[in-house]
Amino acid sequence: MSDSPIAVPPAAQLDALSQKAEQAFCAITDATSAEQFRIAWLGKKGTLRGLLKMIRDVPEEQRRSFGARVNELHDTYEEKFASAPWQEHEHTGAAAFDPALPGFPFPQGSLHPLMKIRNEIRDIFVSMGFSVAYGPDIETDYYNFEALNFPEFHPARDMQDTFFLTATRVLRTHTSPVQIRTMELERPPIRSIMPGRVYRNEEISARSYCLFHQVEGLYIDRNVSFADLKGTLLAFSRRFFDDNTKLKIRPSFFPFTEPSVEIDVECFLCKGKGCSICKQSGWLEVLGAGMVHPRVLASGNIDSNEFTGFAFGIGIERIALLKYGIEDIRFFFENDLRFLRQF
Ligand code: DAH
Repeated sequence: MSDSPIAVPPAAQLDALSQKAEQAFCAITDATSAEQFRIAWLGKKGTLRGLLKMIRDVPEEQRRSFGARVNELHDTYEEKFASAPWQEHEHTGAAAFDPALPGFPFPQGSLHPLMKIRNEIRDIFVSMGFSVAYGPDIETDYYNFEALNFPEFHPARDMQDTFFLTATRVLRTHTSPVQIRTMELERPPIRSIMPGRVYRNEEISARSYCLFHQVEGLYIDRNVSFADLKGTLLAFSRRFFDDNTKLKIRPSFFPFTEPSVEIDVECFLCKGKGCSICKQSGWLEVLGAGMVHPRVLASGNIDSNEFTGFAFGIGIERIALLKYGIEDIRFFFENDLRFLRQF
Protein backbone atom coordinates (compact mmCIF):
# COMPACT_ATOMS: atom_id res chain seq x y z
CA MET A 1 0.00 0.00 0.00
CA SER A 2 1.39 3.40 -0.84
CA ASP A 3 2.00 6.05 1.79
CA SER A 4 0.21 8.80 -0.02
CA PRO A 5 -2.78 9.97 2.00
CA ILE A 6 -6.07 8.83 0.53
CA ALA A 7 -9.01 11.15 0.14
CA VAL A 8 -11.30 10.57 3.09
CA PRO A 9 -14.73 12.13 2.75
CA PRO A 10 -14.89 14.63 5.61
CA ALA A 11 -17.73 14.44 8.15
CA ALA A 12 -19.73 17.04 6.24
CA GLN A 13 -19.66 14.86 3.14
CA LEU A 14 -20.86 11.88 5.11
CA ASP A 15 -23.73 14.03 6.41
CA ALA A 16 -24.60 15.00 2.86
CA LEU A 17 -24.43 11.37 1.73
CA SER A 18 -26.63 10.30 4.58
CA GLN A 19 -29.19 12.93 3.57
CA LYS A 20 -29.03 11.73 -0.01
CA ALA A 21 -29.54 8.14 1.07
CA GLU A 22 -32.58 9.18 3.07
CA GLN A 23 -34.03 11.10 0.14
CA ALA A 24 -33.46 8.17 -2.17
CA PHE A 25 -35.04 5.79 0.34
CA CYS A 26 -38.07 8.05 0.76
CA ALA A 27 -38.47 8.26 -3.00
CA ILE A 28 -39.09 4.48 -3.29
CA THR A 29 -42.58 3.97 -4.60
CA ASP A 30 -42.55 0.57 -6.26
CA ALA A 31 -40.56 -2.60 -6.78
CA THR A 32 -38.48 -1.05 -9.57
CA SER A 33 -37.41 1.97 -7.55
CA ALA A 34 -36.73 -0.29 -4.55
CA GLU A 35 -34.38 -2.38 -6.68
CA GLN A 36 -32.72 0.76 -8.03
CA PHE A 37 -32.15 1.91 -4.46
CA ARG A 38 -30.67 -1.46 -3.50
CA ILE A 39 -28.24 -1.44 -6.40
CA ALA A 40 -27.19 2.21 -6.02
CA TRP A 41 -26.70 2.17 -2.25
CA LEU A 42 -26.42 -1.35 -0.88
CA GLY A 43 -25.30 -3.40 -3.87
CA LYS A 44 -21.74 -4.66 -4.42
CA LYS A 45 -20.88 -1.49 -6.30
CA GLY A 46 -23.22 0.69 -4.24
CA THR A 47 -22.19 3.88 -2.50
CA LEU A 48 -22.39 2.53 1.03
CA ARG A 49 -20.46 -0.64 0.20
CA GLY A 50 -17.86 1.57 -1.46
CA LEU A 51 -17.46 3.57 1.72
CA LEU A 52 -17.03 0.38 3.75
CA LYS A 53 -14.22 -0.67 1.44
CA MET A 54 -12.49 2.67 1.99
CA ILE A 55 -12.15 2.15 5.72
CA ARG A 56 -8.97 0.06 5.56
CA ASP A 57 -7.19 2.72 3.50
CA VAL A 58 -7.98 5.57 5.85
CA PRO A 59 -5.03 6.89 7.90
CA GLU A 60 -4.93 5.24 11.28
CA GLU A 61 -5.86 8.31 13.36
CA GLN A 62 -9.12 8.74 11.47
CA ARG A 63 -9.95 5.11 10.85
CA ARG A 64 -11.90 4.51 14.02
CA SER A 65 -14.32 7.41 13.77
CA PHE A 66 -14.66 7.10 10.00
CA GLY A 67 -15.29 3.37 10.26
CA ALA A 68 -17.89 3.81 12.96
CA ARG A 69 -19.83 6.40 10.97
CA VAL A 70 -19.71 4.42 7.75
CA ASN A 71 -20.74 1.18 9.40
CA GLU A 72 -23.61 2.88 11.11
CA LEU A 73 -24.77 4.46 7.88
CA HIS A 74 -24.55 1.18 6.01
CA ASP A 75 -26.33 -0.84 8.71
CA THR A 76 -29.06 1.74 9.07
CA TYR A 77 -30.03 1.52 5.41
CA GLU A 78 -29.57 -2.20 5.17
CA GLU A 79 -31.97 -2.59 8.06
CA LYS A 80 -34.40 0.05 6.84
CA PHE A 81 -34.45 -1.59 3.46
CA ALA A 82 -34.86 -5.13 4.81
CA SER A 83 -37.66 -4.20 7.19
CA ALA A 84 -39.64 -1.89 4.88
CA PRO A 85 -43.27 -3.03 4.80
CA TRP A 86 -43.28 -3.50 1.04
CA GLN A 87 -40.53 -6.11 1.26
CA GLU A 88 -43.20 -8.68 2.04
CA HIS A 89 -44.30 -8.50 -1.58
CA GLU A 90 -40.83 -9.32 -2.76
CA HIS A 91 -40.57 -12.53 -0.75
CA THR A 92 -43.98 -13.86 -1.55
CA GLY A 93 -44.12 -12.80 -5.20
CA ALA A 94 -47.15 -11.80 -7.19
CA ALA A 95 -48.61 -15.30 -7.23
CA ALA A 96 -48.98 -15.31 -3.48
CA PHE A 97 -50.47 -11.84 -3.46
CA ASP A 98 -51.91 -11.13 -0.05
CA PRO A 99 -54.24 -8.14 -0.07
CA ALA A 100 -53.92 -7.83 3.69
CA LEU A 101 -50.23 -6.91 3.50
CA PRO A 102 -49.28 -3.26 3.81
CA GLY A 103 -48.86 -1.54 0.43
CA PHE A 104 -46.16 0.75 -0.85
CA PRO A 105 -46.33 3.97 1.09
CA PHE A 106 -47.91 6.88 -0.76
CA PRO A 107 -45.75 9.98 -0.73
CA GLN A 108 -47.28 12.28 1.84
CA GLY A 109 -47.53 16.03 1.59
CA SER A 110 -46.32 18.21 4.42
CA LEU A 111 -46.56 21.82 5.45
CA HIS A 112 -44.38 24.29 3.60
CA PRO A 113 -41.58 25.56 5.88
CA LEU A 114 -42.98 29.10 5.68
CA MET A 115 -46.38 27.89 6.83
CA LYS A 116 -44.76 25.99 9.70
CA ILE A 117 -43.06 29.16 10.94
CA ARG A 118 -46.25 31.16 10.44
CA ASN A 119 -48.23 28.64 12.48
CA GLU A 120 -45.67 28.63 15.28
CA ILE A 121 -45.74 32.44 15.48
CA ARG A 122 -49.53 32.47 15.33
CA ASP A 123 -49.95 29.83 18.04
CA ILE A 124 -47.70 31.71 20.47
CA PHE A 125 -49.64 34.97 20.05
CA VAL A 126 -53.00 33.20 20.17
CA SER A 127 -51.96 31.65 23.49
CA MET A 128 -51.27 35.20 24.73
CA GLY A 129 -54.83 36.25 23.85
CA PHE A 130 -54.36 37.65 20.33
CA SER A 131 -56.95 36.93 17.65
CA VAL A 132 -56.09 36.41 13.99
CA ALA A 133 -57.23 38.76 11.20
CA TYR A 134 -56.67 38.82 7.47
CA GLY A 135 -56.84 41.47 4.75
CA PRO A 136 -56.77 41.51 0.95
CA ASP A 137 -53.56 41.20 -1.08
CA ILE A 138 -54.80 43.89 -3.47
CA GLU A 139 -55.05 47.08 -1.47
CA THR A 140 -55.98 50.64 -2.16
CA ASP A 141 -53.43 53.38 -1.85
CA TYR A 142 -55.46 54.58 1.13
CA TYR A 143 -54.97 51.47 3.27
CA ASN A 144 -51.45 50.65 2.17
CA PHE A 145 -50.11 54.19 2.60
CA GLU A 146 -52.41 57.12 3.31
CA ALA A 147 -54.12 55.80 6.45
CA LEU A 148 -50.75 54.65 7.77
CA ASN A 149 -49.44 58.21 7.70
CA PHE A 150 -47.54 57.99 4.43
CA PRO A 151 -48.83 61.21 2.82
CA GLU A 152 -48.92 61.44 -0.97
CA PHE A 153 -45.48 62.30 -2.39
CA HIS A 154 -43.86 61.63 0.99
CA PRO A 155 -40.36 60.14 0.55
CA ALA A 156 -41.19 57.38 3.05
CA ARG A 157 -43.21 55.75 0.25
CA ASP A 158 -39.91 54.95 -1.42
CA MET A 159 -39.01 52.68 1.50
CA GLN A 160 -41.18 50.08 -0.20
CA ASP A 161 -40.92 49.44 -3.94
CA THR A 162 -44.53 49.12 -4.93
CA PHE A 163 -46.31 47.15 -7.66
CA PHE A 164 -49.06 49.48 -8.86
CA LEU A 165 -52.07 47.82 -10.53
CA THR A 166 -53.76 51.14 -11.25
CA ALA A 167 -53.05 54.65 -10.01
CA THR A 168 -54.81 53.86 -6.74
CA ARG A 169 -54.60 50.08 -6.41
CA VAL A 170 -51.46 48.28 -5.31
CA LEU A 171 -50.29 44.83 -4.33
CA ARG A 172 -49.86 45.45 -0.64
CA THR A 173 -46.25 46.09 0.31
CA HIS A 174 -46.76 45.09 3.95
CA THR A 175 -49.42 43.67 6.28
CA SER A 176 -49.77 46.98 8.14
CA PRO A 177 -52.94 47.97 6.17
CA VAL A 178 -54.75 45.19 8.02
CA GLN A 179 -54.21 47.26 11.18
CA ILE A 180 -56.50 49.94 9.73
CA ARG A 181 -59.07 47.39 8.56
CA THR A 182 -59.08 45.82 12.02
CA MET A 183 -59.54 49.19 13.75
CA GLU A 184 -62.46 49.93 11.44
CA LEU A 185 -64.18 46.72 12.49
CA GLU A 186 -63.35 46.49 16.19
CA ARG A 187 -63.26 48.75 19.22
CA PRO A 188 -60.45 48.60 21.79
CA PRO A 189 -59.23 46.53 23.45
CA ILE A 190 -57.85 45.19 20.15
CA ARG A 191 -55.33 42.39 20.27
CA SER A 192 -54.74 40.93 16.82
CA ILE A 193 -52.12 39.38 14.66
CA MET A 194 -52.42 39.55 10.88
CA PRO A 195 -50.41 37.10 8.82
CA GLY A 196 -50.22 37.43 5.07
CA ARG A 197 -48.38 37.67 1.81
CA VAL A 198 -46.83 40.95 0.70
CA TYR A 199 -45.26 42.10 -2.56
CA ARG A 200 -42.35 44.34 -3.47
CA ASN A 201 -40.98 45.36 -6.81
CA GLU A 202 -37.44 44.46 -5.87
CA GLU A 203 -34.70 42.87 -7.85
CA ILE A 204 -34.78 39.13 -7.20
CA SER A 205 -31.71 37.76 -5.47
CA ALA A 206 -30.69 35.25 -2.80
CA ARG A 207 -31.86 37.75 -0.17
CA SER A 208 -34.95 39.34 -1.67
CA TYR A 209 -37.90 38.15 -3.69
CA CYS A 210 -40.87 39.91 -5.29
CA LEU A 211 -43.18 38.43 -2.66
CA PHE A 212 -42.75 37.36 0.92
CA HIS A 213 -44.75 36.93 4.11
CA GLN A 214 -45.22 38.94 7.28
CA VAL A 215 -47.06 38.68 10.55
CA GLU A 216 -48.36 42.02 11.75
CA GLY A 217 -49.34 42.58 15.38
CA LEU A 218 -51.54 45.23 16.95
CA TYR A 219 -52.48 45.86 20.56
CA ILE A 220 -54.65 48.85 21.47
CA ASP A 221 -56.17 49.62 24.85
CA ARG A 222 -56.07 52.21 27.62
CA ASN A 223 -52.58 52.75 29.07
CA VAL A 224 -50.69 50.50 26.67
CA SER A 225 -47.06 51.53 27.02
CA PHE A 226 -43.72 50.81 25.46
CA ALA A 227 -43.08 48.44 28.37
CA ASP A 228 -46.01 46.31 27.14
CA LEU A 229 -44.48 46.21 23.67
CA LYS A 230 -41.16 45.10 25.10
CA GLY A 231 -42.70 42.55 27.47
CA THR A 232 -44.89 41.01 24.77
CA LEU A 233 -42.12 40.67 22.22
CA LEU A 234 -39.70 39.35 24.84
CA ALA A 235 -42.24 36.71 25.89
CA PHE A 236 -42.77 35.82 22.23
CA SER A 237 -39.03 35.59 21.49
CA ARG A 238 -38.39 33.40 24.50
CA ARG A 239 -41.03 30.96 23.37
CA PHE A 240 -40.10 31.04 19.74
CA PHE A 241 -36.30 31.03 19.92
CA ASP A 242 -34.97 30.11 23.34
CA ASP A 243 -35.96 30.48 27.03
CA ASN A 244 -33.13 32.90 27.72
CA THR A 245 -33.19 34.94 24.51
CA LYS A 246 -32.29 38.59 24.98
CA LEU A 247 -33.59 41.49 22.89
CA LYS A 248 -31.82 44.57 21.64
CA ILE A 249 -34.03 47.52 20.81
CA ARG A 250 -32.71 50.13 18.38
CA PRO A 251 -34.37 53.39 17.35
CA SER A 252 -35.73 53.37 13.80
CA PHE A 253 -38.31 55.08 11.62
CA PHE A 254 -41.70 54.00 10.33
CA PRO A 255 -44.38 56.57 9.45
CA PHE A 256 -47.07 54.62 11.29
CA THR A 257 -45.34 54.37 14.66
CA GLU A 258 -43.81 56.92 17.03
CA PRO A 259 -41.42 56.07 18.51
CA SER A 260 -40.33 53.37 16.07
CA VAL A 261 -37.82 50.66 16.80
CA GLU A 262 -36.13 47.69 15.24
CA ILE A 263 -35.62 44.68 17.44
CA ASP A 264 -32.73 42.27 17.31
CA VAL A 265 -32.78 38.93 19.12
CA GLU A 266 -29.70 37.33 20.50
CA CYS A 267 -28.44 34.87 17.86
CA PHE A 268 -30.03 31.54 18.72
CA LEU A 269 -27.27 29.59 17.04
CA CYS A 270 -24.20 30.96 18.81
CA LYS A 271 -26.07 32.39 21.84
CA GLY A 272 -24.59 35.81 21.23
CA LYS A 273 -20.97 34.72 20.87
CA GLY A 274 -20.78 35.56 17.15
CA CYS A 275 -21.08 33.19 14.17
CA SER A 276 -21.47 33.30 10.41
CA ILE A 277 -25.28 33.52 10.58
CA CYS A 278 -25.24 36.67 12.75
CA LYS A 279 -22.15 37.98 10.91
CA GLN A 280 -20.15 37.78 14.15
CA SER A 281 -22.38 40.38 15.83
CA GLY A 282 -24.24 38.00 18.17
CA TRP A 283 -27.56 39.61 17.13
CA LEU A 284 -30.20 38.96 14.47
CA GLU A 285 -32.48 41.65 13.15
CA VAL A 286 -35.97 40.17 13.15
CA LEU A 287 -38.72 42.72 13.46
CA GLY A 288 -39.91 46.32 13.29
CA ALA A 289 -42.21 47.76 15.91
CA GLY A 290 -43.35 50.90 17.71
CA MET A 291 -46.15 52.77 19.41
CA VAL A 292 -49.05 53.35 17.02
CA HIS A 293 -48.92 56.91 15.66
CA PRO A 294 -51.87 59.11 16.78
CA ARG A 295 -52.68 59.78 13.09
CA VAL A 296 -52.99 56.05 12.49
CA LEU A 297 -55.33 55.72 15.47
CA ALA A 298 -57.33 58.60 13.97
CA SER A 299 -57.54 56.75 10.62
CA GLY A 300 -59.08 53.87 12.58
CA ASN A 301 -61.49 56.22 14.40
CA ILE A 302 -59.81 55.63 17.72
CA ASP A 303 -59.34 58.56 20.09
CA SER A 304 -55.63 58.87 20.86
CA ASN A 305 -56.40 60.84 24.03
CA GLU A 306 -58.09 57.79 25.43
CA PHE A 307 -56.20 54.88 23.83
CA THR A 308 -52.64 53.98 22.98
CA GLY A 309 -51.20 50.92 21.33
CA PHE A 310 -48.21 49.15 19.94
CA ALA A 311 -47.67 47.41 16.61
CA PHE A 312 -45.04 45.17 15.16
CA GLY A 313 -44.19 43.42 11.91
CA ILE A 314 -42.24 40.17 11.62
CA GLY A 315 -40.78 38.88 8.34
CA ILE A 316 -41.46 35.15 8.06
CA GLU A 317 -38.88 34.35 5.36
CA ARG A 318 -36.16 36.04 7.33
CA ILE A 319 -36.88 33.92 10.39
CA ALA A 320 -37.19 30.75 8.31
CA LEU A 321 -33.87 31.43 6.53
CA LEU A 322 -32.18 31.87 9.89
CA LYS A 323 -33.90 29.04 11.69
CA TYR A 324 -33.23 26.41 9.01
CA GLY A 325 -29.90 27.85 7.82
CA ILE A 326 -31.15 28.28 4.23
CA GLU A 327 -28.95 30.36 1.97
CA ASP A 328 -31.31 31.47 -0.76
CA ILE A 329 -34.84 32.87 -0.35
CA ARG A 330 -35.82 31.60 -3.83
CA PHE A 331 -35.90 28.01 -2.53
CA PHE A 332 -39.13 28.86 -0.71
CA PHE A 333 -40.91 29.66 -3.96
CA GLU A 334 -39.57 27.08 -6.40
CA ASN A 335 -41.53 24.12 -5.00
CA ASP A 336 -38.64 21.77 -5.63
CA LEU A 337 -39.57 18.55 -3.85
CA ARG A 338 -35.94 17.84 -2.97
CA PHE A 339 -36.01 21.04 -0.92
CA LEU A 340 -39.49 20.62 0.52
CA ARG A 341 -39.00 16.99 1.59
CA GLN A 342 -36.45 18.09 4.14
CA PHE A 343 -39.07 19.71 6.37
N1 DAH B 1 -44.62 47.40 7.80
C1 DAH B 1 -43.20 47.38 8.10
C2 DAH B 1 -42.46 46.88 6.87
O1 DAH B 1 -42.98 46.15 6.10
C3 DAH B 1 -42.91 46.49 9.28
C4 DAH B 1 -43.43 47.08 10.54
C5 DAH B 1 -42.64 47.93 11.27
C6 DAH B 1 -44.71 46.84 10.99
C7 DAH B 1 -43.08 48.51 12.44
C8 DAH B 1 -45.19 47.43 12.16
C9 DAH B 1 -44.35 48.26 12.88
O2 DAH B 1 -46.42 47.22 12.63
O3 DAH B 1 -44.82 48.81 14.01
O4 DAH B 1 -41.31 47.19 6.71
